[in-house]
Amino acid sequence: MLLDNCIWDIKCSVGNDILDNHHKVLFDILTRCVESSDKSDVKYLMVVRELLDYCHMHFAVEENMIEENGYPYFQEHAVEHKNILSAVEKIIFKLYNGIPINVDRVDKFVFNWILRHVLEEDMKYKGYI
Ligand SMILES: [Fe+2]
Repeated sequence: MLLDNCIWDIKCSVGNDILDNHHKVLFDILTRCVESSDKSDVKYLMVVRELLDYCHMHFAVEENMIEENGYPYFQEHAVEHKNILSAVEKIIFKLYNGIPINVDRVDKFVFNWILRHVLEEDMKYKGYI
């Protein structure tokens, strides 16, 4: 699946409506992040902030759900969530402070990481929830 046009379909389902709906929204935000990845544009900062806020909410709900359902790799999963959040926070910190970053290499790597996380890591808890 391509990062600049990631559209949720049934193959992406983790078997839970709440989490599937979260992932649909997340894919939409990721697409908008890539579309507006012009660093000089204030819209970019806003959409990356939206990504951070949404990831915070979604990861908390997801972690709760997989822990309650006894997913055995819950802790490793939560560590990856934490690492993703800190990578997105770093992008925002740099944008706020005018620190030069390579959007194509650094930011898109992080956005792709989130997409891969949903498509590969989240799929692993599918049978548990
Ligand atoms: Fe996850």
